[in-house]
Amino acid sequence: MYNKVLFLSILFLLQIFKFFPHEGMWIPSLVKAFENDMQAMGMRLSAEDIYDVNSSSIKDAIIHFNGGCTAELVSSKGLLLTNHHCGYSQIQSHSSLEKDYLKYGFWASNKSEELSNPGLTASRVVRIEDVTNTVLFETEGLADKERYSKIQTTINKLIADAQTGTHYTAKIKAFNYGNDYYMIVKETFKDVRLVGAPPNSIGKFGGDTDNWVWPRHTGDFSVFRIYSDQNNEPNEYSESNVPYTPLHFLPVSMKKRSVGDFTMVYGFPGTTEQHLTSRNLSYIMDKERPARIEMREKSLSVIDASMRSSDLLRIKYASKQARIANGWKKWIGQVGGLKTVDAIQIKLNREKEYNDMALSNQEWGKKYGRVINDMNVLVDRYKDSDFAYSMVIEYLYVGPELFKRAREISKFLSNYSTLEENGELDNEIEKQTKLSKGFFKNYDNATDKRIFELLTEEYVEQMGDSPLGSILKNNSVKDLAEIIYEKSILTSELRFNKFMEKLSKNSFNKLKNKDLGYILWMETNDRFIKNIVPEVRVYRASMDRLLKTYVAGKLEMFPDANHWPDANSSMRITYGKLEGSAPHDGMRYIEHTNIDGIITKNNSGNPDYELLPRMRKLAAAKDYGDYGQDGELWVCFTGSNHTTGGNSGSPVLDADGDLLGINFDRSWESTMSDFMFDKNRCRNIMVDIRYVLWVIDIYSGASHLVDEMTLVE
Ligand code: ARG
Ligand code: GLU
Repeated sequence: MYNKVLFLSILFLLQIFKFFPHEGMWIPSLVKAFENDMQAMGMRLSAEDIYDVNSSSIKDAIIHFNGGCTAELVSSKGLLLTNHHCGYSQIQSHSSLEKDYLKYGFWASNKSEELSNPGLTASRVVRIEDVTNTVLFETEGLADKERYSKIQTTINKLIADAQTGTHYTAKIKAFNYGNDYYMIVKETFKDVRLVGAPPNSIGKFGGDTDNWVWPRHTGDFSVFRIYSDQNNEPNEYSESNVPYTPLHFLPVSMKKRSVGDFTMVYGFPGTTEQHLTSRNLSYIMDKERPARIEMREKSLSVIDASMRSSDLLRIKYASKQARIANGWKKWIGQVGGLKTVDAIQIKLNREKEYNDMALSNQEWGKKYGRVINDMNVLVDRYKDSDFAYSMVIEYLYVGPELFKRAREISKFLSNYSTLEENGELDNEIEKQTKLSKGFFKNYDNATDKRIFELLTEEYVEQMGDSPLGSILKNNSVKDLAEIIYEKSILTSELRFNKFMEKLSKNSFNKLKNKDLGYILWMETNDRFIKNIVPEVRVYRASMDRLLKTYVAGKLEMFPDANHWPDANSSMRITYGKLEGSAPHDGMRYIEHTNIDGIITKNNSGNPDYELLPRMRKLAAAKDYGDYGQDGELWVCFTGSNHTTGGNSGSPVLDADGDLLGINFDRSWESTMSDFMFDKNRCRNIMVDIRYVLWVIDIYSGASHLVDEMTLVE
């Protein structure tokens, strides 16, 4: 009898755990609904500690870093942590052969040495408001066009009302494809200075070899500081600005960690696509991703060789290489993961369940019975346009860089007369010259030419029967490359400057008629803008409309399932546990790594594991300061938190809201979670904050920064 009770209660517990959602990215203002769940997992905070509009809360320490990554405030003087790869272009922009901050790191020894970064922003969320009822008021039953314009009018009014009399900016975003709307009010700081960065051999340790891979040993962090005006409000860069005093900053956890600890990631996840139909997912897995992977493989083969050939090229191409390689490797992992779990079959099963449910009731049948089929029809109809769109993005926007110059010059010259009339020409010429200078600083003609050759060939092949434009049709790629990289103003600073010196009303025409590089860009871009983009726009709008219905159906017909709105770059929290995984048969991932692993990897001789001598010295001496745990210095750890791109730099908080580490990646087996979360495989990767402090304090001697923080035992 006793055994039976025990058995039943274990069964009951298992049931609870089974339903416990690690999957999902939740809106902080709605966290009350999960408070019980989170507390059952060990959290000692209340929903109000996490998000509160009336008084300060953890939310106020969470920063949207330059609109892409996440960062967190860790001192009363505006000290900000994010990833090394999030601050990479800032670190690179301050680097040169003489001051090689990429290679040796950078530490400001006092505030006057902190480096300004024009254009870099840091935003805080002031509040998140559910405005669904107002936005959708009396829109039911309207025709699409009217409905859209009514919604837009309401949105504009709400935004204007929210902004009036404040220095805040408001945005209204659709959630669940327009089933819900939220207003997000933000305060954006514009003076954000670089305080410190570890050398690449720490911040980017493992490079592309380890990117998206566990076990990991990357010290992926950099340090910035937000400055405000004397009233603690945002201001453009100014010497009179002072360090910003945040409403809340995160205490740093020095507590012992162990498997099963509660973890929560708070940040700005970019995009997920959990609701794609099986047909759409097949297209992505079998066609779109493989083609993009192929394009990037070609660029990378050239860039990698150049970077190995000289220090100068290594610095020039570092940031670009990282960007291209990151997507490339993620996609390979995604496709692999989705295949392994047979995501298509899972989707088909879910779709059958959905359709069966819809057919079980007349009203549901009417509303939801056809929607999956309609989505599949749409995919079939538009997938060629969608594919062409992706290929042009890879070719014109990720491929050879002369196209970037073409875009900039085209924008400028098409405004020539207006600029002249308004007397703004000289100003603009100066701006263009600066732009070109910045561009050519990180450009190498031979490298770009080789990329051009390979990618043009690949692009032509991938586009198949699609029309290409006269230049590509009538010339061999080799000949084109010879001419363009000898003669075009897009591929040489000298030629560009000469062109600018002799600038006249006629210049644009000359360029359009004579410069093969420009003509090629123009033809490809015209086709893109006139044919491909409009098609894809219609496709996406129609798909979003169907997705709205589809999601509404899920919410209505499966009210008890675990529903979360796809990521849309708005603030979210996700929670789980500190834990490893067993992603392959016969193989288990331990949940943390330590400093010894850095040395082992370095011993392999792979250049991605290069170290400066100091790391080997400190590791050999086991000099861990106060940052070790049971004789080990943890470097990274994994958790079952559902994250995606944009969560880079996000704080990982413990049960008390103290900072455990900084999120920076997922394991390769997990990258599929943008489409489908698998709780056995999907793990996020974080760098332990104690390793971060060790690097700042013991490795780099910047202990004044640690002194600024609040450490809790
Ligand atoms: N995979 C991580 C992310 O998506 C880190 C990228 C930076 N690191 C690199 N080796 N490229 O952003
Ligand atoms: N490194 C990613 C970023 O830049 C986070 C990793 C992920 O996609 O989960 O946001």
